[in-house]
Amino acid sequence: MHVALTGATGFLGLRLLRRLLGTHPSVTVLAHAGSADALHRITRFFELTGSPEAFTAELPGRLRVVETDLAQPRLGLSGRSFQKLADGLGAIWHSAGSINLEGDLPELRRINVEGTRHVLELATAGRRAPLVRHVSTAFVAGSRRDGVAYEDELDDACGFENAYERSKYEAELLVHAWSRKHGRPALVLRPSILVTDLPPHPELPSHPLLVIERILRDARCTAGTEEPGGPAGRPLVRMVGRPRGRLNLLQVEHAAEVMTRLAGLTPSGGVDTYHVVHDRDVPVPTVVTLLERLVPLSIDLVAAKPDTPSALEALLDFYPGMTAYLAHRRRFDDTRVRTRLGPSAASAPVGLDYLWSGLALAPAPGACPAVLPSARYA
Ligand SMILES: NC(=O)c1ccc[n+]([C@@H]2O[C@H](COP(=O)([O-])OP(=O)(O)OC[C@H]3O[C@@H](n4cnc5c(N)ncnc54)[C@H](OP(=O)(O)O)[C@@H]3O)[C@@H](O)[C@H]2O)c1
Repeated sequence: MHVALTGATGFLGLRLLRRLLGTHPSVTVLAHAGSADALHRITRFFELTGSPEAFTAELPGRLRVVETDLAQPRLGLSGRSFQKLADGLGAIWHSAGSINLEGDLPELRRINVEGTRHVLELATAGRRAPLVRHVSTAFVAGSRRDGVAYEDELDDACGFENAYERSKYEAELLVHAWSRKHGRPALVLRPSILVTDLPPHPELPSHPLLVIERILRDARCTAGTEEPGGPAGRPLVRMVGRPRGRLNLLQVEHAAEVMTRLAGLTPSGGVDTYHVVHDRDVPVPTVVTLLERLVPLSIDLVAAKPDTPSALEALLDFYPGMTAYLAHRRRFDDTRVRTRLGPSAASAPVGLDYLWSGLALAPAPGACPAVLPSARYA
């Protein structure tokens, strides 16, 4: 079965591609038109992560790169090219998207919702009825900060922490509507926050924790040091959060492995949704300790926004879509994954050392970035 993958140059997409190349002789990469050379970036990823030379040398022959734009009808292809592409496929993995937690809804809808619509149209057009593997997020659970989120749930009763979550929720609704309308199966994979212990590198995609670290560093540098003092002379920043909160962080390599194994199971015929999550959450104070190690700040978790924010706190107010997660305590139920895959679905612990390793080559504590990073993931 020939597979196509969107988002193959992304943080998760590269790991999915690694898995797919383990079981398929070739893969069609639906690359982002106008973005930098996808084949080169993919090759650099495999080189930097230790793949044998013989493997990387074969990549140009094993990858068929088709330039596409998710936001355009027919993914920006001509009618003929679109049909030809569709007819050659047995499965479509849709991992591309915008994961900008601070993005605005129209732009996120354009990429994440309309993008999914166009990918589903590709699946509809294919004469072999290609299988759809849609990468969603556990965060379609929205603003429900406590309790348990189940794999079967998909509603907007609690609202959303940010437009990203809403756009991913709307994309999942499209997958359900498509499956009902065409009587076709679909796989929906909902990972939690994906992390790595691979040190940052300019040629590798960024990831959520790296972005948070950069935002804090940026704000710290912009605000200067004239802030209310925390311990050891560090500027104090009061952030809304819960000392007993917890976050689900999962190794990106493990997520890709679980996802490809789930894709190998017999589909039910409708939409099969799986929470691809860690079985142990990370306490919010661990994340706070990590951030304090990386950026010279002292973070105080408070119940409500301070009435008179410092300059630094006011700057961080620009990132409400990101900071909200420090107040989360909910758990993601992954019974369906564990039932289908058994104990092998469990991952090694994600601790402070693992996370530190994935951020460790960030600028030394105290250093300000030469170029102020934007909130958007590179
Ligand atoms: N990272 C996480 O922690 C996380 C957690 C839960 C769910 N997810 C989901 O996992 C999926 C992959 O995330 P990721 O971390 O790999 O994201 P990422 O690193 O930001 O990669 C996004 C990918 O989408 C491509 N893309 C963006 N706009 C496009 C467009 N208009 N047309 C075609 N391709 C486009 C990018 O291509 P270029 O690089 O060439 O622009 C890139 O390959 C997303 O659906 C996300 O919602 C991620």
